[in-house]
Amino acid sequence: MDLYEYQAKELFAAHGVPVLPGTVATTPEEARAAAEKLGQTVVVKAQVKTGGRGKAGGVKLAENPDETRAKAEAILGMDIKGHTVHRVLVTTASDIAEEYYFSFLLDRANRTFLAMASVEGGMEIEEVAATKPEALAKVPIDPLAGVDLAKAKEIVAAAKFPAEVAEAVAEVIVKLWDVFVGEDATLVEVNPLVRDPENKIVALDGKVTLDDNARFRHPGHADLVDERAEDPLEARAKAKDLNYVKLDGQVGIIGNGAGLVMSTLDVVAYAGEKHGGVKPANFLDIGGGASAEVMANGLEIILSDPDVRSVFVNVFGGITACDAVANGIVQALGILGGEATKPLVVRLDGNNVEEGRRILAEANHPLVTVVDTMDNAADKAAELAAAGV
Ligand SMILES: Nc1ncnc2c1ncn2[C@@H]1O[C@H](COP(=O)(O)OP(=O)(O)O)[C@@H](O)[C@H]1O
Ligand SMILES: [Mg+2]
Repeated sequence: MDLYEYQAKELFAAHGVPVLPGTVATTPEEARAAAEKLGQTVVVKAQVKTGGRGKAGGVKLAENPDETRAKAEAILGMDIKGHTVHRVLVTTASDIAEEYYFSFLLDRANRTFLAMASVEGGMEIEEVAATKPEALAKVPIDPLAGVDLAKAKEIVAAAKFPAEVAEAVAEVIVKLWDVFVGEDATLVEVNPLVRDPENKIVALDGKVTLDDNARFRHPGHADLVDERAEDPLEARAKAKDLNYVKLDGQVGIIGNGAGLVMSTLDVVAYAGEKHGGVKPANFLDIGGGASAEVMANGLEIILSDPDVRSVFVNVFGGITACDAVANGIVQALGILGGEATKPLVVRLDGNNVEEGRRILAEANHPLVTVVDTMDNAADKAAELAAAGV
């Protein structure tokens, strides 16, 4: 989960990283009141989960409350790279002497963490990274050793921070590491990290990505979820512990095992080309124990997707045998009753397949078509989706 700048800076503050005071506003009037409270020149900043807000006109200086109101009015509702601005952060304007870049991230390629730092931070950092790679120091971090003051000083030296701020920057780096580890983040980025004329170091911007797999360790992070930014079907699936990703096609997909589901998406997309270009509507892996309840939950989510025209249930019986899955499907349709309205194509294979097919044949549900092979089943599901459009 990516956080908004204001949320990232709340986490920074909780770990002692210096940030400027600010208030989130959703209306120009609230922005005006926030500026009144701060009582000085402020910056109005669009809160969207994408970078380059400054260049897009989403960061504006305002001298007084009335101007703040006007700037907020201009920024709210703005579209920045496909993200609509619903909120602005009204924060103290900083007197900037220098802008630096700093980040901790998960370096998947090298299977370690990485610190990146540059004294040429700010809005042109991509340009700096592309044309002057030597200006961006990259220091691998041993995940077991972490970052203490000595390591932070090594990063400061590698990036050639000026001597008069070296100590202060190193201290901030240790605190940012605290954010990274303490909050289970995969990215903590500060651009710009600024030096003011008194050599004080402040994080003016913040970008944090939290590791969703660690969410259970952070009950407090639930508050950071932005319902508006989350797909409603994905949110419901998450609440039911389902591994679901919404896609933009018409054929609902249920399978057991991520690999099988991935290949099911491929065969459906391929089959769909012959049927007016229909595509998979979702990824849903119901995992090993395909119980009736899990099957019902999965079917319920998929059937409530208005884009779905047909559903392809593709199950390979392993530890959970095909007869259990077939019973699961029959019971799930029973649980759903009138809610199940779209045709289902079922392909079963593997452990106890004959018994599974027998159970489905015996149930003889009007919505269910059993097809023996994955390719033929994908073709049938695509055909039904095309017919249902
Ligand atoms: N509080 C602030 N005071 C003064 N200038 C700011 C402030 N916040 C941002 N800026 C300026 O605006 C630029 C862009 O803001 P930033 O928060 O980095 O947004 P983005 O990275 O999305 O463009 C910064 O590089 C800085 O020069
Ligand atoms: Mg920035």
